[in-house]
Amino acid sequence: MDAIVVKGNGPLKGETHASGAKNAALPILAASILAEGQHTFRNVPDLADVATMLKLLRTMGLEAERRTGKRSHECTLEWKGVVHPEAPYDLVKTMRASVLVLGPLLARHGRARVSMPGGCAIGARPIDQHLKGLKALGADIELTEGYVEARAKRLKGGTVSFDVITVTGTENIMMAAVLAKGRTLIENAAREPEVEELARVLNKMGARISGAGSDVITIDGVDTLKPVDHAIIADRIEAGTLLVASAITAGDVLVKNAVPEHLEPVLQKLREVGCQIAVEAGGIRLKGPERVLAADIKTKEHPGFPTDMQAQLMALLSSAKGTSVITENIFENRFMHVAELRRMGADISVEGPTAVVRGVSKLSGAQVMATDLRASASLVLAGLHAEGKTTIARVYHLDRGYERLERKLSALGANIRRIKG
Ligand code: EPU
Repeated sequence: MDAIVVKGNGPLKGETHASGAKNAALPILAASILAEGQHTFRNVPDLADVATMLKLLRTMGLEAERRTGKRSHECTLEWKGVVHPEAPYDLVKTMRASVLVLGPLLARHGRARVSMPGGCAIGARPIDQHLKGLKALGADIELTEGYVEARAKRLKGGTVSFDVITVTGTENIMMAAVLAKGRTLIENAAREPEVEELARVLNKMGARISGAGSDVITIDGVDTLKPVDHAIIADRIEAGTLLVASAITAGDVLVKNAVPEHLEPVLQKLREVGCQIAVEAGGIRLKGPERVLAADIKTKEHPGFPTDMQAQLMALLSSAKGTSVITENIFENRFMHVAELRRMGADISVEGPTAVVRGVSKLSGAQVMATDLRASASLVLAGLHAEGKTTIARVYHLDRGYERLERKLSALGANIRRIKG
């Protein structure tokens, strides 16, 4: 297993860029199931999770060719007829987002057998809302031997009113409804930019979706969809992480491709703690202060502060002037990084969904362990600021969602390297 070694090395400086968005790419690749023929996706990030999704689609009969250029990651996917509509446990257990094939398989092939994802490091993460939505569209659902078995000759439009706001749930139902007969309303829909991006792609394929990006999405079913050529939006969470890397080192970094509208709540917080932020041609520049100020954060669904940036902000606030209170409202167990940050000298206590972060003047390097994707990123960030050497084990978590983070940081002047294990 690879590890990352990082040594605090002063301010980061220069330009970097955000790659394609993982959480947009995964549903979009799954959406390819909805139309026979050859799709071309551009700006597909080179990530372990994307490789897992392609592997899953290949087990179903997809011919996928991946071409990754220096900055233009391109991926051609071709579906020809026979599809084996099953997502096996072995793949679903490595990536929960595999559940995104459920909606498109059912819509296009009338049948899907998808392993139920179990819990994961950050929470129980049930999929009851996905199943409730599919039932509202007329699917028969059975749970047998750890698998969801879903059937429907043709789904019928209906009203799906989510009890909790769910990103992949909204995406799954949107993909199911595009080929249903009649109109579907999704109420209490997730408003994340990745949901909007998926709707954009589906509409390019010939779907009739309106309202994506708001909490009510309307979908008028069509009979068939056509393949698509699409460039995926930039990853707002990767961009945010790179901006925090600048903030935590009192650096001056321009993150190209970062979309300010997607990052508004994060930029607001970064300004609040004393960072200077400028929107420049094609990106966002962040100049970090000598020492950041404390701030309180409450994670919330978009357009609130994203849970996927909570761990990174905690790393930043660990050395802030003053005490910050961070409340995690989306996942019940997303504080796994706290124990590791403490090993680096952070002063953090947790009670229920709330972490109290008393800023210390300096963190110190230590051996730490990555526990999930964003937790890994927070440890890398803490390592950039810490005195001495930080070794982060289990970086396969990081590779699921960050494209060569250590290379991007090293190009900005960080003393960071990967040790192959
Ligand atoms: N929930 C339910 N029932 C459901 C679905 C969700 O109770 O049927 C609950 C979850 O347990 C959670 C909350 O609703 O407490 C929100 O979960 P959501 O379904 O929105 O999460 P997700 O769709 O599984 C996506 C991202 C996550 C991101 C969350 C929240 C993808 C592939 N994953 O997950 O990304 O944290 O939305 O924004 O889009 C990451 O990239 O590191 C990551 C974990």
